Amino acid sequence: MRDRAALFEQIYAASPWPMLMLGPEGELLGASDDRSDAEPAAGDDMPLRDRARHYLGLLRGAVPWLTPQAVDSVRTLASGALVHERLHLRRTEWGACLAVIDRSEMQTPPPADAQTARLAALGFMVAGVCHEVTNPLTSLHSIVQILRAERQPSQELLDKGLNNIAVNVKRILDISRRLVTFSRVGDEPRARFAVDEAVEEALYVVRHEGLMQHVELQRQADAAAVVFGSIGQVREIFLNLLVNALQAMDGRGVLQVATRRNGTGVEVTVADSGPGVPEALRSRIFEPFFTTKLDARGTGLGLAISNEIALEHGGCIELRESGRGAVFCVVLPRAPA
Ligand SMILES: Nc1ncnc2c1ncn2[C@@H]1O[C@H](COP(=O)(O)OP(=O)(O)OP(=O)(O)O)[C@@H](O)[C@H]1O
Ligand SMILES: [Mg+2]
Repeated sequence: MRDRAALFEQIYAASPWPMLMLGPEGELLGASDDRSDAEPAAGDDMPLRDRARHYLGLLRGAVPWLTPQAVDSVRTLASGALVHERLHLRRTEWGACLAVIDRSEMQTPPPADAQTARLAALGFMVAGVCHEVTNPLTSLHSIVQILRAERQPSQELLDKGLNNIAVNVKRILDISRRLVTFSRVGDEPRARFAVDEAVEEALYVVRHEGLMQHVELQRQADAAAVVFGSIGQVREIFLNLLVNALQAMDGRGVLQVATRRNGTGVEVTVADSGPGVPEALRSRIFEPFFTTKLDARGTGLGLAISNEIALEHGGCIELRESGRGAVFCVVLPRAPA
């Protein structure tokens, strides 16, 4: 418990925004203004702790919340002034974190904010990263100890040891590569683009890698579905969803990728004919490092990173109900004409 309090303190100190820590049933575990050196919120007449009930009432879905999400809140102060805030919920190993970002003076964040948001998202993952990297490192350490203890290790022991070392090193490299790509932000141009350009680029990559040879692709495009943002980042979302779909189908089956405009938004659905996501796992798949691909193929970062990118673009990713197979839907706001 003391460890957790220390972890919360670190997160509060690192976060540029007020933060609430929630338990698995939505109970309040801590608030950043509990800290003795916390600065009082400028002009606010209610402590953060006391606002928790209002914020929890705005979150979508039942506890435990299905997906990390961003929702907007508007509150009236005693002075009559309105406070516009955006709430970012992320699931954690102890429950969830809720960051409260005051957007009263800034309904649309300037591009410079993208970097801060991205770094904050990485901050959420730090505890998990340490845990995930420590496991393979501990294995590596034991293997080295075992091999060292043997004066003349047999060929069989050597082969086993080297194989184990290779698997663990690959895992650390995979995690580190994904996080490095994710942290590189700010140098990417942001512009209007047809979302199908990003979809086609991602499809090109999976085809080029030979992952689609035995898959029937059913495609529905919409050239007028235009969004604003970084095409490279949005392509990353589709790449992750396509790879997941193809892995779930074991490279064989029907893949449906459909783009449509929908009111003020654009929707791209990626539906596969695989086994679908079991009910019991639906609430966990967007958590960083959650993976069922235990043969070392998966880092469990694909959906977590994709969801962050969608949120940064003002959208979200939903796992939709379907009779069979998994249906992931990426919703992004349409770019103003
Ligand atoms: N199309 C799908 N069908 C069935 N299960 C899926 C599908 N997509 C994701 N999942 C489940 O969600 C989990 C998390 O997916 P995510 O992409 O975040 O990580 P991963 O695919 O396991 O690893 P990585 O993306 O790093 O290769 C998967 O391990 C799998 O259990
Ligand atoms: Mg994946």
